[in-house]
Order: sequence, then C-alpha cells, then structure tokens
Amino acid sequence: MYSKKVMDHFTNPRNMGVIKDPDGIGEVGNPVCGDIMKIFIKVARKPNIGEFISDIKFQTLGCGSAIATSSMITELAKGRSLKQAGEITRDNVASELDGLPPEKMHCSNLAADALKKAIKNYKRKKKEGRNAERKKEKKRGGDRKI
Ligand code: FES
Repeated sequence: MYSKKVMDHFTNPRNMGVIKDPDGIGEVGNPVCGDIMKIFIKVARKPNIGEFISDIKFQTLGCGSAIATSSMITELAKGRSLKQAGEITRDNVASELDGLPPEKMHCSNLAADALKKAIKNYKRKKKEGRNAERKKEKKRGGDRKI
C-alpha cells in the first residue's frame, strides 16, 4: 500500500523535465526492471554555504515509486549544498515519502544514485574545465617565451 505522499508525488511530480544547459547530469538504470532515471542540476555559489544546487529536474521512465522518489529527491536537494545533497540516501527519500512498500525500496536507489552521479558529473566537468584553462595558460606562457 502506498502512502498519501507517494501518491501525491506520483500524480503531481515536482521538478519534472529537463534543464537545457545543465551543470551536471546523472543517469542510472535499474537492470532488474529496465527503468531509467535522469537528473539534471544547476550549481551556483552562496557565500555562506558555498556551491549549492540552485535548480534540479528529473526525467524518469519508470514505475510510480521511481517517479515519486525522483520528485521527492528534487525537493530534498534543491537549495542544499553539494555536500549535503550528495549525502541524501535512499532511506531519507523513502522516509520523507512516509515509507515505500519493501518490494519497492530498490526503486528509491535510482533517485539517490542519479543525484550522486549528477554531482560527480558536475565535479568532473569543473575539474576538466580547470585543467583545460591551465593548459591554455601554460601554452600562452610558452608562446610568450618564444
Ligand atoms: S520497478 Fe523499476 S524502478 Fe521501480
């Protein structure tokens, strides 16, 4: 039996859709049922918390629990620092939804894993951007010496 909150998030999902120019994307699939989930994030910076999730959206091809957990995780992550958002677990998501049937707990893995992947993807892109910048700087420096 699903809780009222699960039904609410399933029938009226929050933050569903795509961010056109995301800072990070996380995509995961459930090998057992074949369901797929994508999470898109935008990252901004505030002096008091540092980098935080300023916008988040999801696309889910999956069951009602997968949609409800995606919707809930976007609400939990929005406005949180990257560190706090990365620490959200499947149990956090399930308990915010007032529980999921035991046989549906695996569905909440998708949401937590997709968010973690999106944050990882953002960090990787940022690092690659910094490395490319360093290479350009080095090249410019090298060009000047000639
Ligand atoms: S049955 Fe596939 S994610 Fe729920």
